[in-house]
Amino acid sequence: MHSLRIFALCVVILLPGCAPRGPTPGASPVPGIDPTWRFTGKARIASGRQAMVVSGSPIASQVGRDILQQGGNATDAAVAVGFALAVVHPEAGNLGGGGFMIIRPREGPAYALDYREAAPARASRDMYRGAGEDASVTGHLAAGVPGAVAGLVEAHRRFGRLPFRTVIEPAIRLASDGFVVDEYRSRSIGEDSSRLVLFPASRATFLPADRPPARGSHFQQPELAGTLEAIRDSGAAGFYRGRVADLIVAEMQRGGGLISREDLAAYHAIWRDPIEIAYRGYTIYSMPPASSGGITMGEILNIMEGFSPLPPFGSPALVHREAEAMRRAFTDRNTYLGDPDFVHNPIERLLSKEYAAGLRREIGERASVTPRFDAQARTGSSTTHYSVIDADGNAVSCTTTLNNSYGSAVTVTGAGFLLNDEMDDFATSPGEPNMYGLVQGEANAIAPGKRMLSAMTPSIVLDPAKQLFLVVGTPGGPKIITMVYHVISNVIDHHMSLPDAISAPRMHHQGLPDSLQVETDGFARETLDSLRARGHAIANRGTWGDVEAIIRTADGWQGVSDPRLAGGGAGY
Ligand code: DON
Repeated sequence: MHSLRIFALCVVILLPGCAPRGPTPGASPVPGIDPTWRFTGKARIASGRQAMVVSGSPIASQVGRDILQQGGNATDAAVAVGFALAVVHPEAGNLGGGGFMIIRPREGPAYALDYREAAPARASRDMYRGAGEDASVTGHLAAGVPGAVAGLVEAHRRFGRLPFRTVIEPAIRLASDGFVVDEYRSRSIGEDSSRLVLFPASRATFLPADRPPARGSHFQQPELAGTLEAIRDSGAAGFYRGRVADLIVAEMQRGGGLISREDLAAYHAIWRDPIEIAYRGYTIYSMPPASSGGITMGEILNIMEGFSPLPPFGSPALVHREAEAMRRAFTDRNTYLGDPDFVHNPIERLLSKEYAAGLRREIGERASVTPRFDAQARTGSSTTHYSVIDADGNAVSCTTTLNNSYGSAVTVTGAGFLLNDEMDDFATSPGEPNMYGLVQGEANAIAPGKRMLSAMTPSIVLDPAKQLFLVVGTPGGPKIITMVYHVISNVIDHHMSLPDAISAPRMHHQGLPDSLQVETDGFARETLDSLRARGHAIANRGTWGDVEAIIRTADGWQGVSDPRLAGGGAGY
C-alpha cells in the first residue's frame, strides 16, 4: 500500500564505554538457537549500585544520569532524557510526536500517562481515500496533534523534584552547542534522506550541504534550541500557544495539513489506570489504551501461563504455542481496542484468566488459520524507549515515537523539530493493512480528537515480594508487544540473564499477515522445519527492536541495551 521503505535496522555500533562483553558467564548453548546467531553475548551492559538510565542514545542516558546525580528523581531524569532524545536521536526522539510513560514511585501503585497524538478536529474517517499514496505516512496530512511536550511537562509537574528549567537545560545545550554524531545516527539520516529532502526545513536541518552529518561531525540545531527555550520559559504553553504554535500552523498551511491553533490549545496529556497483570507471582504494570500494549501482552502472558511448565526456549513446542497465543491476542487487539474516550475497550474480559483458558483450549498441535488477507508487514526501529531507576527505587518506563523514522519527514520551519506521521496508526482504511501490516477495524477508525491505537508497551515488573525487579520497553511497531513479552518470559520462565534475554532471537505473530515471523538466522533449522511441519508459514524478517531495560541484581542495577542497535546505559 505504501511505497515508503522502512529499513530493518540491524547495525551494531561499538560505542566508547559500552563495549559488548563476551558470552554471559555460565551461559550454555541453547539447542533452539542457531549456533551462528550473531547477537549471543553482545548486549551492551552498564552497572550502577544506586541508579540507572538506559536509552536508545548513550548521550541521552548520560544526561539522565547527570540529572540523578544532581538530586533529581527518576521522573526528572526521564523528562530530561525525553527532551535530550529529541535533539540527539532525531529519528524517534521528538517534540512533534507522542508517547506513553509508566511511573512507579518507590512504594505503592503505578501511574500511566497517555500523551499520544490526537487526530486534528478537521480529520475524518475517510480522509485518506484518494489523498494519494503515502499521505498518511509522508507529508503534512500524516501528522497528528503532537503530545510529547504536554506529556513531559505533565510528568514533571506531578512527580518531578528539580526545577523544570534544570531538566530541560541539557537538551537546550545539546541543540545549541551541538553534539558529535555517531555512525548509527549519521547512517540513519542518510537512509531517510530521500524523504527528508522533500521538505525544505528538513533538508536544511538534517542534510546540511545536502548530505547527512558525517560520523564524528558536530551537529547543531539552533532553531530546535529556540523551541526548547520557549518550553523552558513557558512550559507547555511555550509549544501549544504563541510563536511555536504559530509556526506549526503556518507549516500546516504551507503543506495542506490539518492541525489548527485550536487543536494545539486543546491538547492535554491524560493520566490513566495502568494495566496490571499477575504472571506466575510477578506483577507487571503496563500501558492501557490508547495503547494496546498492556492488554495484548497480558492476553499472551495469561494464555502462556497455563502451559506449565513451558517447553524450553526455542523449541518448536514453545514457539508454536507462543505464535498461537499471539495470533489470538492480536486478533482481539485489532478488533476491539481503540481510544477509550471514543470506544469501549473490554479490558476485564480480555484480561481474565478464564478467557485466556478458553483461548488456550483452542490451541492444538497444528497451526490454526487467521482468516482473510495477507499483507507484507514491514519493520523498523524508529520509536525509542528509555528506562530509569533512581537511588530511592522510583522507576520510569517510557516509549516515545514519531511513528516511523523521522515521522512525516516534515520539519516545522523556524522551529526545528519534526512532525509525526502517527495518523497511519489509525485504521485509515478499515480492513486494509497499515504500514506494519496491521489490519484493524472500526474501533480504531479516525475521528476528530481521537487518539490512534498504539502498540507501545512501556512496562515495570515487580517480583513476587512486590519489589522492583525489571523496567523494560522497546521500539518495533506491533512487534513491541511480543518483544516485551519475550524479555519478561525469557527472564521469568527461561531463567535467562537480562543480557541473554535481550540477545535471544525473537519470533512474532500478529494474526494478519498469517505468518510466523522470525529473526533471520536466529532459531535452529530443526525448530523452523518442525514449525513448518505443524503448518506455520515462516517469514524471515531480518532483525528487529531496541530493547532498553534495567534489572535488579545482587550489586544494584544492571542496565542492558539491545545489541541490535546503538543505545547505551549510564549508572552510578
Ligand atoms: O504507536 C505505535 O504502535 C507505533 N507508532 C510504533 C512505531 C514503531 O515502533 C516504529 N518502529 N519500528
